[in-house]
Amino acid sequence: MLTCIEGVLSKDDVADFRRIMDASDWEDGRSTAGSQSAVVKRNEQLPPDSEVARKLGNRIISALTSNPRFIAAAIPLQIFPPLFNRYAASSGHHFGLHVDNAVRGDRLTGLRIRTDLSVTLFLAEPEEYDGGELVIEDSYGSHEVKLQAGDCVLYPSTSLHLVTPVTRGTRVASFFWLQSMIRDDQARGMIFDLDTAIQALVERLGRDDPETVKLTGIYHNLIRYWAEV
Ligand code: NI
Repeated sequence: MLTCIEGVLSKDDVADFRRIMDASDWEDGRSTAGSQSAVVKRNEQLPPDSEVARKLGNRIISALTSNPRFIAAAIPLQIFPPLFNRYAASSGHHFGLHVDNAVRGDRLTGLRIRTDLSVTLFLAEPEEYDGGELVIEDSYGSHEVKLQAGDCVLYPSTSLHLVTPVTRGTRVASFFWLQSMIRDDQARGMIFDLDTAIQALVERLGRDDPETVKLTGIYHNLIRYWAEV
């Protein structure tokens, strides 16, 4: 399942992030790449252990964990500290086809997660650059994603994906992974659909409608059945 979430960060927050990031030191993006992806990765990133990356990353995690659509779609167990990258047209930056590492460890906190979902949070407006589409392959084909600044996309970390070459301007984004309580993408997708349908029923019928209460019970029991916590 591929899920877009609008307005995770406000435009003011995005402007503040960009000001802070512009004033920071950047390094070659290959420092966090696995051996296959290092061959195809050409971009820059904020040093992952730097204070600036951690502070901005924490702001993203707070915004996401108070976003009901994110919680419903991801059912997160652990979120990896967000990383930040940029692709400049002047340097021919791009990221060829690859799959993200299955397990990620964080040197600073010792956190280790299985990557169930990959997240890209866009920090540049689509008008600021040409190219730089995130292309995600799944069993239904290729999907091109290029969102407004402040919006994010969640996709299964099992997917092959790439970032097309940036041919004008600079693409700026945050990217990270999370381990979900529901490992299986299809199971997680069904729970998300059920949750969305229940929320719509609650709007129409109220919280105490007996069938809505029953469906809410099924929602929780499916999580109880599948969750790893
Ligand atoms: Ni990737």
